[in-house]
Amino acid sequence: MSTKQFDVVVIGGGPGGYIAAIRAAQLGFNTACIDEWKNEKGGPAPGGTCTNVGCIPSKALLQSSEHFDHANHHFAEHGISADNVKIDVAKMLGRKDTVVKQNNDGILYLFKKNKVTFFHGRGSFVAAKDGLYEIKAGEEVILAKHVILATGSNARQLPGAAFDEEMILSNDGALRIGEVPKKLGVIGSGVIGLEMGSVWRRLGADVTVLEGLPTFLGAVDEGVAKEAAKLFKKQGLKIELGVKIGEVKATKKSVTVSYADAKGAEQKAEFDKLIISIGRVPNTIGLNVEAVGLKLDERGAIEVDGDCKTNLPNVWAVGDVVRGPMLAHKAEEEGVAVAERIAGQHGHVNFNTIPWVIYTSPEIAWVGRTEQQLKADGVAYKAGQFPFMANGRARALGDTNGFVKFLADATTDEILGVHIIGPFASELISEAVVAMEFKASAEDIARICHAHPSLSEATKEAALAVDKRTLNF
Ligand code: FAD
Ligand code: NAI
Repeated sequence: MSTKQFDVVVIGGGPGGYIAAIRAAQLGFNTACIDEWKNEKGGPAPGGTCTNVGCIPSKALLQSSEHFDHANHHFAEHGISADNVKIDVAKMLGRKDTVVKQNNDGILYLFKKNKVTFFHGRGSFVAAKDGLYEIKAGEEVILAKHVILATGSNARQLPGAAFDEEMILSNDGALRIGEVPKKLGVIGSGVIGLEMGSVWRRLGADVTVLEGLPTFLGAVDEGVAKEAAKLFKKQGLKIELGVKIGEVKATKKSVTVSYADAKGAEQKAEFDKLIISIGRVPNTIGLNVEAVGLKLDERGAIEVDGDCKTNLPNVWAVGDVVRGPMLAHKAEEEGVAVAERIAGQHGHVNFNTIPWVIYTSPEIAWVGRTEQQLKADGVAYKAGQFPFMANGRARALGDTNGFVKFLADATTDEILGVHIIGPFASELISEAVVAMEFKASAEDIARICHAHPSLSEATKEAALAVDKRTLNF
C-alpha cells in the first residue's frame, strides 16, 4: 500500500488547527488534520482545549450559574417569586457535556463537508525527506508537503502542587466539580480564576482568590479593573493580592495553602477544593521536534516569525503553541492566515485589534491600548466614558453596572482603545473592533445611528463623551 500524501497536514484540532484545515481545504489543498483528544468513550473529540475544557464548557457553566444567581437574587425585583431554588450539579454538568459534544460533532461534520481527512491519534514528526515531511498520524505514517502545527497549551503547574484533578484542580477539574464546595480556593486572579471562581461562587461556594501580583487585572484598563474589583467584592468574591504561595498540602478531604500575605505575615487557609490557574504553557509534547530540528524558544513555544513560519521550510505554527495572546479567536485568525499564505495569498492578523473578553458578571471586554499603556507610550489622548446607569436598555434589563470608555488620539481623534465593563460587553466590543480595523475616529461612531433602546447606545454616548457632548448623561 502506498503512503498517503497530503498537500497540508495540520497537527492539532483545536480552534487554530481545525480552522486552518478547513481554510486549506477550501483553497483546494488535499488536507489532513490529526488530533489526539479523546472523549470519555475513547472516541475523537476535536476542538482542543477550547471545546473540551476551555471556552465552551466554561461558558456553559457560567450561563447555568448565572440563571441560578438570577433566580435567587434578581427575579424578585421583577415580581417573580422563586422560593427554594435548587441546583442539580450533576444535571448542570451533563448539560455542559452535551454542549461540548455538539461542538465536537460539529467539527467532525465540518471536516466531512470540506473533505478534510481526519486522523484520531497523536501526530509526530518522523523525518524530512525529499522536500516532504514524514508524519506519524496515530498508527499510520503519512507524507506532507506543508505542515501546520497547532498543538495548543497546557495548564501551568505550581511547583509542589501537582494537579490531581480531585482536590488540586486545573481548568479541567474545575469544570467537573461534582458538588458545590463550601470553601473554594483559587490561585491566580487571571481570566480562568475569575471565570471559574464566579461559577462556583454563584452556586454558593465561599471563594477566595490568591494572587501573586500586587495589582488586580494588571493588563486591563485601570479604571475598568478598579470597577471590577469593587463589583466582585460586593458579590462576595474574596481577592487577596500580593501573596506568596508556600506549601500546598492536599488530603482526601481538604487542601491547605500556606502563604505570606501582602504584609509578609504567614497565613494558612483550608479549602474543600483548590483551583490553580496561573497561566498556560505551550504544548509540544509528543511532536518529536528533534527528528526534524524544529526550533523552540526559551518559553518552550515554537519559534515563528510574524507570518507564523518556523525555522523549517513549509512548516508553520499557530495558536497557543506560539507567541502572542492565548485566545481561541487569535488561533483561528492565524490558522486562516497561514492557509492563505500557503496558497500564495496575503493572509494577515492584526494584533492591535484582537479583542479580549472576561466572561464574569458584569463582563469585561476591550480592544486596543489601555489608558496606562497610552501614558507609558507618551501618546496624547482624549477619554470619554458613559455609564450603563444612564442607558435605558440597561435599566430595563436591571443590569446597570459598569461603563463604556473610549480612548482617542488627542489630535486625529482616531480610536486607540475601547474598554467596556457591563452587560453583554462581549458582544458590544465587536463594534469597536470594526471601528479600529477601519481606523475610525470617535466622531465616526458618535455620528452613526444606533438602535434605541439598546446597550450599543452606551458605545455611541462614550464616543460622544470624547468630545464632551453626551446627550443622556
Ligand atoms: P488547543 O485548543 O489547545 O488545541 C490543541 C489540540 O491539539 C488539542 O486537541 C490537543 O489534544 C491536540 N494535540 C496536541 N499535541 C498533539 C499531537 N502531537 N498530536 C495530535 N494532537 C495533538 N479563549 C477565548 O478566546 N475565549 C474564551 O472564552 C476562552 N476561555 C477559556 C477557558 C478556559 C478554562 C481555558 C483553559 C482556556 C480558554 N480560552 C479561551 C483559551 C483557548 O481555549 C485557547 O486559546 C485555544 O484553545 C487555543 O487554540 P489552539 O488551537 O492553539 O490549541
Ligand atoms: P492568566 O495569565 O490570565 O492569569 C494568571 C494569574 O495568575 C495572573 O494574575 C498571575 O499574576 C497569577 N500568578 C502566576 N503565578 C502565580 C503564583 N505563583 N501565585 C499566585 N498567583 C500567580 O492565566 P489563566 O487564568 O490561567 O488563563 C490562561 C489563559 O487562558 C489566559 O491568559 C487566556 O489567554 C486564556 N483564557 C481566556 C479566557 C477568555 O478569553 N475569556 C478565559 C480563560 C482563559
